[in-house]
Amino acid sequence: MNYAQILDQIHRDLQPYLGTGRVADYIPELANVPADSFGMAIVTPTGEVFRTGQADTRFSIQSISKLFACTLAFRLLGDALWERVGREPSGTAFNSLVQLEAEHGKPRNPFINAGALVVTDVLCRRFAHAENALVQFMQRLTGDPGIDYDLRVAQSELRHAHRNRAMAHFMASFGNLEMPPESVVDAYCRQCAISMSCVEVARAALFLSNGGIAPVSGERILDSSSTKRLSALMLTCGTYDAAGDFVFRVGLPAKSGVGGGIVAVLPGEMAVCVWSPALDSNGNSLAGVLALEWLTTYTGQSIF
Ligand code: DON
Repeated sequence: MNYAQILDQIHRDLQPYLGTGRVADYIPELANVPADSFGMAIVTPTGEVFRTGQADTRFSIQSISKLFACTLAFRLLGDALWERVGREPSGTAFNSLVQLEAEHGKPRNPFINAGALVVTDVLCRRFAHAENALVQFMQRLTGDPGIDYDLRVAQSELRHAHRNRAMAHFMASFGNLEMPPESVVDAYCRQCAISMSCVEVARAALFLSNGGIAPVSGERILDSSSTKRLSALMLTCGTYDAAGDFVFRVGLPAKSGVGGGIVAVLPGEMAVCVWSPALDSNGNSLAGVLALEWLTTYTGQSIF
């Protein structure tokens, strides 16, 4: 497959769309990123890298961190994790509180904010600094010791994290947080502020395309059954309330973030990350979804 040529074509065809949509500004620091930025990278388990645009520019991975935090928590708790967080699409916005009361503080899935806060609680219980544990995990997955979180983005979010605080306290009232809600929100905002490039994010997700083994280090991250489960969750819940439309258009398990990044995996073949900060009304990168839709269309490759 000539990925280099296909990426160049996607980049060219995207020009009229770049900058259309809205850059997330409810975290003020994110609003400073130029709306028409674009990068895309494909990484294969054999170590090939194909890139276009700003594929080496670091961006705020935001909710893409939920995928890796969930991986760590799943490794720690195994199936006991699902006693505290569900695995159904929510059908509501990623930051919605409405289901939590009726469902006794158990979030629908680990990729909405409430579910990710429970996941971070699991990590806070195990590690003195959960965000550092996640940063180190990303460093291991990519082989890059320079990966870190952006303190300014974290502080910017922390100053405006009223909804996440409300969710954390609400879940604590149901007994579904074990650590102090304020410290869980603090670690959560720092983990969302991790900065990585498309190449780095794709490389980090590659274990999902490789039966659970990270090709960079040879480390087994998850057994093959857990790898299947995590990928299934990405398919059904990874792109917010738009997961159905996303799967219809793209046909790959994926996780998006409000920084404009989307990572997707094709088992046995590749991991791909696209970044463009202007978002559609669901909070997914507008150009990013289009780019992935064209990738699976031009290559004829998806999980279906
Ligand atoms: O908690 C927030 O609102 C952001 N740190 C992350 C939001 C995001 O990327 C979408 N989440 N599923």
